[in-house]
Amino acid sequence: MNLHLSTRLRRMRRNETLRRMARETRLSVDNLIAPLFVRPGAGVRNPIASMPGQCQFSPDTLAEEARALADLGVPAVILFGIPDRKDAEGSGAYDPDGIIPRAVAAVKAARPDLCVITDVCLCEYTDHGHCGVVRPNRDGVQDVDNDATVDLLAREALAHARAGADMVAPSDMMDGRVGAIRDALDAHGFADLPVMAYSAKFASAFYGPFRDAAESPPQFGDRRSYQMDPANAREALREIALDLDEGADIVMVKPALPYLDILRAAADTFDIPLAAYNVSGEYAMVKAAAANGWIEEKRAALEMLTGIRRAGAQMILTYWAKDAAGWLRV
Ligand code: PBG
Repeated sequence: MNLHLSTRLRRMRRNETLRRMARETRLSVDNLIAPLFVRPGAGVRNPIASMPGQCQFSPDTLAEEARALADLGVPAVILFGIPDRKDAEGSGAYDPDGIIPRAVAAVKAARPDLCVITDVCLCEYTDHGHCGVVRPNRDGVQDVDNDATVDLLAREALAHARAGADMVAPSDMMDGRVGAIRDALDAHGFADLPVMAYSAKFASAFYGPFRDAAESPPQFGDRRSYQMDPANAREALREIALDLDEGADIVMVKPALPYLDILRAAADTFDIPLAAYNVSGEYAMVKAAAANGWIEEKRAALEMLTGIRRAGAQMILTYWAKDAAGWLRV
């Protein structure tokens, strides 16, 4: 037998046609979800310094951006709201006339076919920047009260649904919130509205740029009493299993890149649509290196997105959605 070992694997890499035929993972515009930030006003396009290429929009400019994304074939956006006023209870989050209900209405009017997902959390709306209602815990330390927060999250999800959202995505990491949101939706005529749960959301340093964009850094402490410890993989699978039990339709791992093992394990364990959030810090790192001429942005971004797909994610929330949609066209 003649083994010809010297070209055993390279034969199929010899030209782009062969590489295209042998490619195992496809990245498509269908996989992309664009996160967008919206604040009150008109004609607003405030560039976000820590996230070059991203802006805070007002509902009117948001609708234009959503139309541009839909024209490029991006199937979905996820909206983050920055309210007029913040308070201790995050009341702007569940105000039926709040920023997200207004933004959803504007986007749906512009492009009814675009899937509008809303982020459901209190941190953008609370003056202390935590993801829920803060009370002293048993040790006398200020901490987020789980059940009081869950009630408000259910109200928030319902306000978004009533405004026309196509899907809600709780990102707060309170226990039991998926079930409470599911019950509230079902009880008010939204049994057909899917829930995308940020199930395995880790307490990550990579959210830094987002907190600038959403003006939501915690004013004291951190989020480690509700977001997951980065060291834990088995617990991530438990979080996912519980959210599925409570009725989640899509589960998410967040951030993406330091947690590709979690994505792979989740894809192997659960037969469900799986999402990954390619977060602000992952985006900002590449942008900063590219601005210095140290890395090629397009190649790096497509490699990251392909890696996230290969690890098992079917949906990717990414700030590159618009650029990638353009890159994948040609
Ligand atoms: C809010 C929320 C955060 C992100 C998405 N939803 C911030 C946080 O938990 O501090 C981060 C997204 C990103 O970094 O791109 N709960």
